[in-house]
Amino acid sequence: MNRVEGRVKVTGLATYAAEYPVEGVTYAYPVQSRIAKGRITHVDASRALAMPGVLGVLSVEEPPELAEDADAELALFQSRDVAYRGQLIAAAIADTYENARAAADAVRVAYEPADHDVGLRADHPGLYRPEVVNPDYPADTEQGDLEAGLAEAAATVDVTYTTPVLHNNPMEPHAALALWAGDGRLLVYDSAQGASIDRDIIAKTLGLPPNRVRVVSRHVGGGFGSKGTTRPHAVLAALAARAVGRPVKVALTRQQMFDVTGYRTPTIQRLRLGADADGRLTALEHVAYEQSSTLVEFAEQTATPARVMYAAPALRTAHRLVRLDVATPSWMRAPGECPGMYALESAMDELAYAAGLDPVELRIRNDPQTEPDSGLPFSSRNLVACLREGARRFGWDRRDPAPGVRREGEWLVGTGVAASTYPARRMPSQALATMQDGDFLIQVAATDIGTGARTALTRIAAETLSVAPDRVHVELGDSDLPAAPVAGGSMGTASWGSAIVRACEELMKNGKEGRADTTGEVAADTRLARHAFGAQFAEVRVSAVTGEVRVSRLLGVFAAGHIVDAELARSQFIGGMTMGLGMALMEETQTDEEFGGFLRRDLAQYHVPACADVESIEAVWLEEQDERLNPMGSKGIGEIGIVGTAAAIGNAVHHATGHRVRDLPITPAKILMPRF
Ligand code: MOS
Repeated sequence: MNRVEGRVKVTGLATYAAEYPVEGVTYAYPVQSRIAKGRITHVDASRALAMPGVLGVLSVEEPPELAEDADAELALFQSRDVAYRGQLIAAAIADTYENARAAADAVRVAYEPADHDVGLRADHPGLYRPEVVNPDYPADTEQGDLEAGLAEAAATVDVTYTTPVLHNNPMEPHAALALWAGDGRLLVYDSAQGASIDRDIIAKTLGLPPNRVRVVSRHVGGGFGSKGTTRPHAVLAALAARAVGRPVKVALTRQQMFDVTGYRTPTIQRLRLGADADGRLTALEHVAYEQSSTLVEFAEQTATPARVMYAAPALRTAHRLVRLDVATPSWMRAPGECPGMYALESAMDELAYAAGLDPVELRIRNDPQTEPDSGLPFSSRNLVACLREGARRFGWDRRDPAPGVRREGEWLVGTGVAASTYPARRMPSQALATMQDGDFLIQVAATDIGTGARTALTRIAAETLSVAPDRVHVELGDSDLPAAPVAGGSMGTASWGSAIVRACEELMKNGKEGRADTTGEVAADTRLARHAFGAQFAEVRVSAVTGEVRVSRLLGVFAAGHIVDAELARSQFIGGMTMGLGMALMEETQTDEEFGGFLRRDLAQYHVPACADVESIEAVWLEEQDERLNPMGSKGIGEIGIVGTAAAIGNAVHHATGHRVRDLPITPAKILMPRF
């Protein structure tokens, strides 16, 4: 089945947030803080206000009215305190984008700077244990005697891995267009991953009841988490439109996105593992050090996959957080699992060498019967089957485990493996199914961020109704539709699909319309460990001359329940794996220690994989029957593809070169370093 919105996308008729034609539209352009910490003593807008086409300047000199309990990242122009370099501290509004930009440039801000601290360190005196980590896990867990487990082990590793700040770079930059109607209702076209929650947060920020606000996000050009929470640009558009009494558009530049759309926290992760003579874990400890801002506590769940992956009689996980003079981190594809599994799966590879065991076999030997941390049974767990199938397809049995011995001319060749996992959750959703001229209309405030959600939901409805998919029309991306959760956490299809199935069943019963709300159904879900699993295999070629790493083969084998649409699923898996390749080899946002903020703020310096970086990539999956997830029997697939990829590539680089790089990304300099 082709994407139902394929035609409007390739013909340019799909309308994105910044593109809606609106009579009398004006533009707001933000002013960003040039210091990392301190106070704004004065904002001088006089020059800006005298410039052509300028309609107004917003700043703390006349703070716009906002709810007192607004999220600190969204409470624009309320405080004179600067929390990070790049923070939005004022905005100019004008008749054209160019005039607004020129006026923003002419706003003079006087500061009283203070000393800043933007450096994450594992010995930072400000580190503390957060109450919970995202979304609501305990920060620390501990069972068994870790030190005894390590002491009795035949093989141990004690290693520290670091990952840098990473930024989402969706093709469509963040943008919002805000219009206030005469009756005080606000309409925001926003590039957002969830219309219902975005509506709620914008309303809360402005101190309005949710029914006074409508958010429309019909087409969204990627998000990966960066559009999963309401961002300041949307609030700015609403405030500016209210101030000038005209519609206002805010379209962030690529550089501005690096400052105000969130990022993946850098991590320092220490792993201590012990195994007995048979390769069975005697102890597993995973401690993650991360950062948040002074404004909001964001505690990423980096060590949580260690609670799921392997059976170990002694298991300890911990998270430590430090509040720095930085922007608040946010969601980036597989937050927690992605960096956490990079470190855990790299350490498992090191343990395999220490124990003299094949890394596939080490993982199989430590596959648990029940979820290690909770003791809950798994709804389904097929990691071992993924490892076996992947090993077969990849030709793993021909692998010589000795590192640094295969050479073809200047190229050192190696292979690596890593496991992958991601939780399979669902959230309550509503949906409405009606008959329309013999066809079926499905309405739900879901969002298609480029994943193909419209198509997947069309299929789910068509299969439930036993009709051809071309008789089903799915309307989404509008908060006036039945309320639905965000396109995030790999929960979209499971959550919206559950409501659509129930609405369609209801429609078939009464022949007219079906209205569903799965709140009760989801609350009644039995307690089980629900996760998708996968195995990632990589082959790399490393130039002994330049240190360049080429990934010549990537294979992912996944067990993710029933696959709703093979074409879309493959696209999600290989998209995630490609992003994992970027994480392994090139993606890194350097923090500016001297001035705060970030040094790399565009795609010329923040490198993401291009087609030429991806040589052979293959994603396959096992048929998995799991009736205890949702009516489709599906697990989320949006994020698991990125989990484990960087570890598989790093492990392959070690196998190729004999050199273990424990700091991402694995750049040529780090490969060549041991020679000098
Ligand atoms: Mo994804 S990071 O849950 O949008």
